[in-house]
Amino acid sequence: MKKIAVFASGNGSNFQVIAEEFSVEFVFSDHRDAYVLERADKLGVLSYAFELKEFENKADYEVALVELLEEHQIDLVCLAGYMKIVGPILLAAYEGRIINIHPAYLPEFPGAHGIEDAWNARVGQSGVTIHWVDSGVDTGKVIKQVRVPRLADDTIDSFEARIHEAEYKLYPEVIRELLDK
Ligand code: GRF
Repeated sequence: MKKIAVFASGNGSNFQVIAEEFSVEFVFSDHRDAYVLERADKLGVLSYAFELKEFENKADYEVALVELLEEHQIDLVCLAGYMKIVGPILLAAYEGRIINIHPAYLPEFPGAHGIEDAWNARVGQSGVTIHWVDSGVDTGKVIKQVRVPRLADDTIDSFEARIHEAEYKLYPEVIRELLDK
């Protein structure tokens, strides 16, 4: 049985969808006050939280993360709104076993504001991408992606909600495929 960990920095709605469908070994948040930690409690999922600023440097922070992953013998790390770039320590230990969800159709609109950037560019369609994590920002090999239309009467809120709905469908699909491999 392959073991999953989820990393999330904030709200955690993607974590919730994943945890409702799969057995999640633990969720990690790099913010001690993130709402995702409340979701984990309600779902009975083990959670850990510590912050980069509590360490001397990012390398030490990532050493602690790798220890946690190894202690739990994690096979697959699912980033879901984890707002940090994965650094060399974590990559060296886990590259090829870390995936990320991005709320746009990569390579279109990488970075922290994929939804807003697509909206401001007035595209007719955007999308959602699941990709392997490498040292770049949203540059890793694409695993699966779907298109999401922007409709004529959309507001940014309705557009965003449609993107999230697509995320909640796509992420579990991809995780299922990777776990079945
Ligand atoms: C999602 O849109 C995800 O694609 C992006 O950050 C957002 C996280 O939302 N990377 P949530 O924390 O899962 O609700």
